[in-house]
Amino acid sequence: MSVGFGVDIGGSGVKGAPVDLGKGEFAEDRMRIETPQPSTPPAVAKTVAHVVEHFGKHAGSGPVGITVPAVVKAGVVRTAANIDSSWIGADADTLFRNALRREVHVVNDADAAGVAESRYGAARGSTGLVFVATLGTGIGSALLHDGKLIPNSELGHIELDGKDAELTAAARNREEKDLSWEEYADALQTYFARIEDLLWPDLIVVGGGVSKRSEKFLPLLHLRAPIVAAQLHNSAGIVGAAVTAAERSA
Ligand code: BGC
Repeated sequence: MSVGFGVDIGGSGVKGAPVDLGKGEFAEDRMRIETPQPSTPPAVAKTVAHVVEHFGKHAGSGPVGITVPAVVKAGVVRTAANIDSSWIGADADTLFRNALRREVHVVNDADAAGVAESRYGAARGSTGLVFVATLGTGIGSALLHDGKLIPNSELGHIELDGKDAELTAAARNREEKDLSWEEYADALQTYFARIEDLLWPDLIVVGGGVSKRSEKFLPLLHLRAPIVAAQLHNSAGIVGAAVTAAERSA
């Protein structure tokens, strides 16, 4: 069994696990530690190290994939929509390499989820353009063409009616405003219809926690492309990080 290791850094938790790269599943139960507050780069790096150390020899010695909810260019974090602003400009590659003393690959969280769905989940074997949206606190996006990731697409921030799409179509908006599924589906319809007009994807995959309740809103959406729920649910970030690290270091 080929085993990798992935860590998913979110606003509330830092989660990690060894990953069976053949199956795209955790090889051990995942470990979760609360994200330190404030979530500065050095504090988060320490937490990531605790998560990896928890697994001892089961963490292996290969490259570790790490997600951040931000744009990552050549290992440097460039945005901070839902994380501490001190991440902007942080050299995450160097930070985590020093904290873990091993090879690391840092990747946007939605890109990791997209890669996981493409290798093991709802977009497995899909050709053409796949658009993956993760609906949570914000909206993450991943674009894959014939299985190859086009990184840092940030399509959760397109403008709809003069506002950032995240403000109306992220799952947080449904919870905070206590929207009915019909009302939330309306927001999603506007969002995905605009995405379709701009990109003409062949498949749309909806991820994030809310995808577990996809039967409540997917049937209400009318789009040209098939739109399906993600299959990896809350393992997508960790699995995607691990497979990204393995593929990049190969
Ligand atoms: C960020 C993205 C991230 C998404 C999901 C957005 O606000 O701009 O980089 O992928 O949230 O966490």
